[in-house]
Amino acid sequence: MADKDVLIQLNGIRKVYGDEAKTEALKGINLEIAEGDYIALRGRSGSGKSTLLNIIGGMDKPTEGEYIFRDIRVDRLSGKGLDEFRRANISFVFQQFALMMQYTVEENVELPLLFKKLSKKERQAIINEKLKKMGILRLKYKQVTKLSGGEQQRCAIARALAADSPLILADEPTGALDVTTGEEIMTVLDNLHKEGKTILLVTHDAKVAAHAERQLFLKDGRLVSEEESELMQN
Ligand SMILES: Nc1ncnc2c1ncn2[C@@H]1O[C@H](COP(=O)(O)OP(=O)(O)O)[C@@H](O)[C@H]1O
Ligand SMILES: [Mg+2]
Repeated sequence: MADKDVLIQLNGIRKVYGDEAKTEALKGINLEIAEGDYIALRGRSGSGKSTLLNIIGGMDKPTEGEYIFRDIRVDRLSGKGLDEFRRANISFVFQQFALMMQYTVEENVELPLLFKKLSKKERQAIINEKLKKMGILRLKYKQVTKLSGGEQQRCAIARALAADSPLILADEPTGALDVTTGEEIMTVLDNLHKEGKTILLVTHDAKVAAHAERQLFLKDGRLVSEEESELMQN
């Protein structure tokens, strides 16, 4: 990692849910993610994958520990500051939460552009370019609820492309898709990685994880080796 800049540094990240019956979802995560990394996060259900992704995405706050993104102390942000951090730096390509379902494809892809100093014409040019790239230009004025799972994923990725954010987070990006569409989505993520984006994806699927350059394994809230994770193939 010596030749790459550090994008994210996590030091002793803990997350405890609940007041009385406490669940310690993350038990001290130390992790460095470099600019341009392509990482698959794996682990059994309940191991803390979504919690870790949510904290990295600025959607949830750690109970304890440091989260540094470039030179930003994210663990010290809240409210508006955290919203701004998220908007400027993170794109989500999540299964269910990525899109505003009652809006059109165009409105969804336009959303991140509204926070940039762009004219309507400039926004339209970017929207059309990204929709074309994802092969869904013809769906521009369709409501997201009326799209198939694969089309929704394409829309979410088109929005991530429009946002042009450095970090892309995906929770089971192929989970709800048939094999062919899933592979197409992975090719898109591979290309985004080649363009220099940092990608962190959660997956149960070893074949999907194999697209990444680095695999991380969570077990009971701790990062472990593949052997300890008990997720070894064969
Ligand atoms: N909002 C919450 N409130 C209470 N417990 C939660 C909450 N979210 C997750 N947990 C618990 O934290 C642990 C890790 O959950 P999660 O991060 O969703 O795991 P994964 O994504 O690997 O399935 C689980 O025990 C889960 O029940
Ligand atoms: Mg999860």
